[in-house]
Amino acid sequence: MLCTILRSNSIEVKHLTSSAYILHSCKSRPKSEMSTNTYTQGQSDSTVSAYKRRTAEVEAAFLLPHVRKTDNILDVGCGPGTITTGLAKYATEGSVIGIDLSREVIDSARRLAAVSDVPREGVGSVDFRVGNVLETLDHPDNFFDIVFASQVFYHLPLPDVPLQALSEIRRVLKPGGILATRDGMTQHFYPRRLDLDRLWVNHAERATLKGVPDMEPTAPSMPRLLRKAGFDVDGGKVRVQVGSSVTATAEGRRFLARRCTSQLQEGDAFRQSWIDVGISEEDINRTLAAVREWKQTEDAWHVVVQCEILAWK
Ligand SMILES: C[S@@+](CC[C@H](N)C(=O)[O-])C[C@H]1O[C@@H](n2cnc3c(N)ncnc32)[C@H](O)[C@@H]1O
Repeated sequence: MLCTILRSNSIEVKHLTSSAYILHSCKSRPKSEMSTNTYTQGQSDSTVSAYKRRTAEVEAAFLLPHVRKTDNILDVGCGPGTITTGLAKYATEGSVIGIDLSREVIDSARRLAAVSDVPREGVGSVDFRVGNVLETLDHPDNFFDIVFASQVFYHLPLPDVPLQALSEIRRVLKPGGILATRDGMTQHFYPRRLDLDRLWVNHAERATLKGVPDMEPTAPSMPRLLRKAGFDVDGGKVRVQVGSSVTATAEGRRFLARRCTSQLQEGDAFRQSWIDVGISEEDINRTLAAVREWKQTEDAWHVVVQCEILAWK
């Protein structure tokens, strides 16, 4: 059951499901009283297998020219950590720490790092810890040269939750340090006649926004949020650009379709997030059929438009 209560100046969303979480985003509520887990997609193999394919060279390409050998880097919401470990190959005289809410995914990141050639401690190392960017991080003020977050702000709903994260990130960034974020802003499936922009894209966005009517997605709001968090947007300290992630090969279509269809199977937290916002079984079945047809369609393709931000403290 999903219960949404809208009040002036505050939003309170309560999800009462088996693996229940409660999010309270209330301006008047002290931080210590706020629940700080807004992530509803879960960590099933279907979901995490896609993240394991990600690399620093692709997901952090817009950041890499700014990484110095000696940098200390924090990767917030690192997931299975393939990007994190990749960043350590550039900060060879610094260090990289990945944090994530999920113990399970941090264990997976440690296992993957153990078979890489990146050291697990000392100079040039990568390390992983359970941590929540919506709570006080274990690091002193002005500690990191770079804070990176890939596909995390997308899951932090407006209005206040992303600001809470930005405030904590700004605290641990050194003066002159860089915050780099990358989040999907929109996506499209071609050919259009398969209706996946409605069936997949709209439904997935509705679930991420937890069914709150007229809620803006977070990624396009990043410049405004950064300004509010104290970054000097007018002084040229915030660079906004877009990248893209394209799937246009038969192998890519098979992978993406497998991921989408298994995420919508009974028992997957991702499917539950759709049901929680009122998406019907019928629409889920229509989506599954359309994804299967898209997979079989020669020359069908998919694009995610990625919002890429560099912000200097
Ligand atoms: C979509 S995944 C992206 C993982 C990885 N950054 C990547 O791009 O492959 C988002 C991750 O952010 C984590 N996450 C969500 N909210 C978080 C929070 N408040 N603090 C730390 N991690 C969070 C989730 O557990 C999840 O692993």
